[in-house]
Amino acid sequence: MCGIVGYVGEEQAAPILLEGLAKLEYRGYDSAGIAVRNETSGDISIVKAKGRLKILSEKTDNGRSVHGTCGIGHTRWATHGEPSENNAHPHCTDDKSVVLVHNGIIENYQELKDKLVKSGYTFYSQTDTEIAVKLVDYYYKKTGTPLEALTRSMLRIRGSYAFGVMFHDHPGKLFAARKDSPLIIGRSSSGSLIASDVPAILDKTRHVYYIDNMEIAELTKDEVHFYNIDREEIQKEIVEIKWDAESAEKGGYEHFMLKEIHEQPKAVQDMIGAYVKDGAIDFSEVGLDDAALKEFERIYIVACGSAYHVGMAGKYVFEDLARIPVEVDLASEFRYRNPIVAPNSLVIIVSQSGETADSLAALRLMKEREVPVMGIVNVVGSSIARESDYTLYTYAGPEISVATTKAYSTQLIAMYLLAIQAAKEKEMIDDDRYAELLAEMETLPSKIQKTLDDKERIQWFASKYANARDIFFIGRGLDYAISLEGSLKMKEISYIHSEAYAAGELKHGPISLVENGILVVGVLTQSDLFEKTLSNMVEVKSRGAYLMGLTTYGNYNIEDTADFSVYVPKTEEYFTTSLAIVPLQLMGYYVSVAKGLDVDKPRNLAKSVTVE
Ligand code: G6P
Repeated sequence: MCGIVGYVGEEQAAPILLEGLAKLEYRGYDSAGIAVRNETSGDISIVKAKGRLKILSEKTDNGRSVHGTCGIGHTRWATHGEPSENNAHPHCTDDKSVVLVHNGIIENYQELKDKLVKSGYTFYSQTDTEIAVKLVDYYYKKTGTPLEALTRSMLRIRGSYAFGVMFHDHPGKLFAARKDSPLIIGRSSSGSLIASDVPAILDKTRHVYYIDNMEIAELTKDEVHFYNIDREEIQKEIVEIKWDAESAEKGGYEHFMLKEIHEQPKAVQDMIGAYVKDGAIDFSEVGLDDAALKEFERIYIVACGSAYHVGMAGKYVFEDLARIPVEVDLASEFRYRNPIVAPNSLVIIVSQSGETADSLAALRLMKEREVPVMGIVNVVGSSIARESDYTLYTYAGPEISVATTKAYSTQLIAMYLLAIQAAKEKEMIDDDRYAELLAEMETLPSKIQKTLDDKERIQWFASKYANARDIFFIGRGLDYAISLEGSLKMKEISYIHSEAYAAGELKHGPISLVENGILVVGVLTQSDLFEKTLSNMVEVKSRGAYLMGLTTYGNYNIEDTADFSVYVPKTEEYFTTSLAIVPLQLMGYYVSVAKGLDVDKPRNLAKSVTVE
């Protein structure tokens, strides 16, 4: 979603802002803008453009035509008001006394607007951000200090925000404030930076501060001061980001998505290596001891998008292996349905970004009710990571493509690890079985690699089906969980309508959609369900469907039914999701490429959905 970058220092700001915004492109946006203060004249220039960042770069000669060493930049993903230059950020007051960029949503914007109109302010855009900048200006004119203007505005605003702000009367200074929308502060050798996400400033610095809710930062080229909402100065520790800048680059691949698909063997390896030590699972880093894990009688997995599909796979593994009942919920449903959470339960929130608004709200609801919460999170220091009682990091590294792949794969490993350890603690498996499961899990990286090595076949098949109108994915049990994710990958990036159905449900409606030539992908990795799903495939075939079968090596009789078959290596059946998802990710990718679409930044989608 929207991205923020700010810089104050010794270098020219505009090129740094544009480079930083380019690193945030993956979050999804529809317009962009920068504001830079010229030290000599004192003027603040604002340049904005609708559409891709390259238009803004062209307008400013890659930033060279906008002079000054202090500035803020923004990529906007429209919420209030259409994507347009007028609605793009930065927004400012008529006299440019305050210039501001904003991520998030101001819920009481109408009420604030009415108040400001009465005080003589005029509005030119349809954004809630223009209300924020004018509210800050209103309090600035009243109090004369930026800090008080910001804190008083923060107390009036309901909703979520991360702000980057410049005041005309305070040259060489940037201000930042946040509530429920991510924002970090960086210190580099040449100055200070603000950013909504780590990749934006990674090639400038790896040293950052995290601003918490209702806190304000004041940045100059030499130092950063932090304040709470009562305007008392607070001390913060600088944190070193371990990701390197290179991992946020394409590294020779045509798209981030393809690069990230290929990084899965390493991501899975890193993930296993982080938690399996000397033949045993070690959750000490998570803060969860085995005795605590044993006490949980019920698990709720709450997430959005692909992370929800990880929860679906996790349910099958947990319930079968550890015999713990698991409920899986979409965060947007869970948070609003007054959920009943049984005593001795653990709520697991799964999130790559750690900032998804609904997942974060679900977490906070559980914390209010004093239910223990574990966050399975990729982005270090993100809100869900920091607010969870137990934080289990996935070691996928920065994921840039909107459609998740490697983060999803590491989240699956987190599920296996938790389920195996819970099974051991609850004495559902003995030591031999425990060792056998861990040993098999260690083979997953090389088996994922083997699956990737077969990608040309998928590429060929994808090019044949690039013009499909509808695709159906069917499977049972874990194969249904894989189907859900395969179908999401397909629709996200190829814009082909696709649905996943539990194969047993076909007769209850979906089969009426099957007509001549329609593509149905059957997933059959679970031996006890193989025959059942196969007979569902026969049913759709006899109604004209074209069949792709996805199964494990050895199940060659699938070729009697399927028109095109894809095989993945055999593994412990709890882990097949990790392998079978790879051809489906590749299929979505290659269909998108064949259609000439923007694979990494599909239309209307955002990497991190920080508003509900
Ligand atoms: C967006 C992304 C998906 C992701 C979902 C949940 O829709 O495009 O790839 O699965 O958000 O995001 P999270 O960061 O919470 O995992």
